[in-house]
Amino acid sequence: MWEGLQPELAAVATGSHIDAIPYSGKYDGVVGVLGAIEAINVLKRSGFKPKRSLEVILFTSEEPTRFGISCLGSRLLAGSEALANALKTTVDGQNISFFDAARSAGYANDQDDLSSVFLKKGTYSAFVELHIEQGPILEEEGISIGIVTAIAAPASIRVEFEGNGGHAGAVLMPKRNDAGLAAAELALAVERHVLESGSIDSVGTVGILELHPGAINSIPSKSHIEIDTRDIDEERRNIIIEKIRQSANTIAINRGVRLSEFKIINQDPPALSEKSIIEAMEASSKELNLTHKLMISRAYHDSLFMARVSPMGMIFIPCYKGYSHKPEEFSSVDDISNGVKVLALTLAKLSLE
Ligand code: GLV
Ligand code: MN
Ligand code: MN
Ligand code: MN
Repeated sequence: MWEGLQPELAAVATGSHIDAIPYSGKYDGVVGVLGAIEAINVLKRSGFKPKRSLEVILFTSEEPTRFGISCLGSRLLAGSEALANALKTTVDGQNISFFDAARSAGYANDQDDLSSVFLKKGTYSAFVELHIEQGPILEEEGISIGIVTAIAAPASIRVEFEGNGGHAGAVLMPKRNDAGLAAAELALAVERHVLESGSIDSVGTVGILELHPGAINSIPSKSHIEIDTRDIDEERRNIIIEKIRQSANTIAINRGVRLSEFKIINQDPPALSEKSIIEAMEASSKELNLTHKLMISRAYHDSLFMARVSPMGMIFIPCYKGYSHKPEEFSSVDDISNGVKVLALTLAKLSLE
């Protein structure tokens, strides 16, 4: 925190995350953390004196990779009681509990009451996140800065099917109830239901599909699939979720397997950026002579949750071919530098409001 001349006023915050999914790039999130620190450095070097204090936040576990829930840190800061409760029994893939992980990182030492991290509304007068676009629009159109007006509504679902399994040679086809085929059929149903929405903005992905026992000569007795679906229209996304639920039930009945789990992990509404922050980001881009356009974010971000407790805005910069969540992800130093400048100027303006 860089204390402002009037520290009694609500602070302005910025930041992002540095965790990553497997086999990803190194810009998603990191640009908004190192960029935030550099934006503060720029303002300090220029002799600027903030009125409101400026804070940099490094959110933990934005990606769902470790604990199965996205934006863990920002969801908690935004006051999710449901998550605070769920984390009491949450373990990672190595069976390390959330609290052990937090303690070994130097947190949650005295007490395990996560509600202590809930932010009161009004703690921040503004939250701004700098991030790579993770889509191709800015690069294709040769525009330097994206000003995010809204973040699409994400949801994720965990599904498990159980069947009898058995020997891949000895159990004849009519006698089988193959949990793997049930999962495969559900994955195809997800694609169908998303396309049925008729909107290019509806998306659905099965990024995890695991079969047990995972031997070529054993009929899968258990399957586990995780489904990600999003839309800028929350109602349309919710219709897709209901269709997926109906398909999971029907597939289980038709294939004689048990639907042992159908759990909606998160079903979040979209978030809108704050008009005054959009205006500050636009004015900053103009003053810096940088081309800019208003756009929506199809990826989710910690900003989606910070918007629940603070006015929010996001600055996007171009990235190579829109690549993200894969190793080819890249943003140039010039593009990052433009984003940092717009962030610095935006923070300066917001800190004087
Ligand atoms: C963020 O990583 C997302 O999946 O949108
Ligand atoms: Mn990501
Ligand atoms: Mn990210
Ligand atoms: Mn054998």
